[in-house]
Amino acid sequence: SQYDEQYRPAYHYTPPGGWMNDPNGLVYHDGEWHMFYQYYPHDTVWGPMHWAHAVSRDLVNWQTLPIAIAPDDQGYIFSGSAVIDTRDTAGFGEDAMVALYTIHDPVRGAANTRDHESQGIAVSFDNGRTFRKFSGNPVLPNPGKTQDFRDPNVFRDEARGRWVMSLSVHDHVRFYASTNLKEWTYLSSFGAGESGPDGVWECPNLFPITDEASGETRWVLIQNINPGGPQGGSGTFYFVGDWDGTRFTPDPDFGSDPVWLDHGADNYAGITWDNAPDARRVFIGWMSNWLYAQEVPTQAWRSAMTIPREISLNGLELRQQPVAELQQLREMAFALAPNASAQTVPSAAEYDLQFRLPDSDSSFTLTFSNDEGERLALGLNDAGHWFVDRTNAGDSGFNPAFAAIHTAPRLREDKSARVRLFVDNASVELFPDDGATVMTEIFFPSEPFTSISLQTEGGAQLVSGQGWPLKPADFG
Ligand code: FRU
Repeated sequence: SQYDEQYRPAYHYTPPGGWMNDPNGLVYHDGEWHMFYQYYPHDTVWGPMHWAHAVSRDLVNWQTLPIAIAPDDQGYIFSGSAVIDTRDTAGFGEDAMVALYTIHDPVRGAANTRDHESQGIAVSFDNGRTFRKFSGNPVLPNPGKTQDFRDPNVFRDEARGRWVMSLSVHDHVRFYASTNLKEWTYLSSFGAGESGPDGVWECPNLFPITDEASGETRWVLIQNINPGGPQGGSGTFYFVGDWDGTRFTPDPDFGSDPVWLDHGADNYAGITWDNAPDARRVFIGWMSNWLYAQEVPTQAWRSAMTIPREISLNGLELRQQPVAELQQLREMAFALAPNASAQTVPSAAEYDLQFRLPDSDSSFTLTFSNDEGERLALGLNDAGHWFVDRTNAGDSGFNPAFAAIHTAPRLREDKSARVRLFVDNASVELFPDDGATVMTEIFFPSEPFTSISLQTEGGAQLVSGQGWPLKPADFG
């Protein structure tokens, strides 16, 4: 079937065909998690952008719906967000779903006028199935001479009774306010200054979250950047701080240096759902990298999303965990034998591993392999860094930057470590140390990896190891 092709993930969202990049318009409404995304239906490389649409009732099984917003004479439909206008502040009607996106004019863009990006809105009264573009677009015109003016991310600032938009502007983020979603007033700007990584800022997301350590509300600013990512190409960082209604200020103890949200090569343009129930903060990212996204060797489609992740904050430490809903995919658990020379495993599986690391140079390597001699290695190296080694994990000839060993410093000094792992046919997501560090990586083995082995050094020991085969999710 369509979903049996080589490299097609079992439980990560992929479009049936065509090109996909950023998740857009993440909003929960009436029992549905909406995920719109950057989409080009006519090829497997980037092109005139549409907002495609998928919905889920459980963040695991997704139904792909018809394209929600298509480009027109005004321009391509670039990334953005969606809100539910419960109290009809815009005058479109109660409970309207309002999409806010960037109108990217390709003609002026090609002529390099530097005023070719502005913000528009569209409204839906059928739970996002169809949208009507607002006749008064753009609602936030380009001020002129402002290249990279995009990716509006809007939330309701209840304390001040207005909407707030975060917008990426070349090398900083700007905040705007509105009472009606149609007229926007500039509030403030925030940039990383001297210390931040170099690259174009894209896809911001500012949101409140309760600090589990203190019970206080803090604010997280997620910011995507390309290039300048932790492994080259695109990447995502965040700040933890305060929002006073006008201005974002990083917490003095957090400092002005952002922290990488994911140390792997393949998690970009991620944002969180607005309006989620039970004060949940759920994140999803595009599981690729602009370095090679348009060259990866999939045939009918290009790119998958990450698994959805629950975000929590403990002090100034942002943690990510796979959403609990994913447990419904588990089949009968199996034990991972300590120091097994090789054990047969399914190519789509979840692992929960507990290691003892008695010495500062204790290290371990988990190797996933196939009969073709290809392997993906990951673990903790003797320098105390988490790593993923995809130098010999299958096809990498499509781009010289792909085959590499990627590392992330370990943030803990504990003599034990719990590592959760989500492996799909062509990706791995590594959640060590309560998800304080995350690495997301894609790979393209000629045959699925169905064997696992473990090597330990420096007294490292697998104390307990459990795995679950994961059933394919329903993408009907
Ligand atoms: C990020 C991005 C956004 C833009 C979109 C275009 O990957 O470059 O800044 O809106 O993709 O598809």
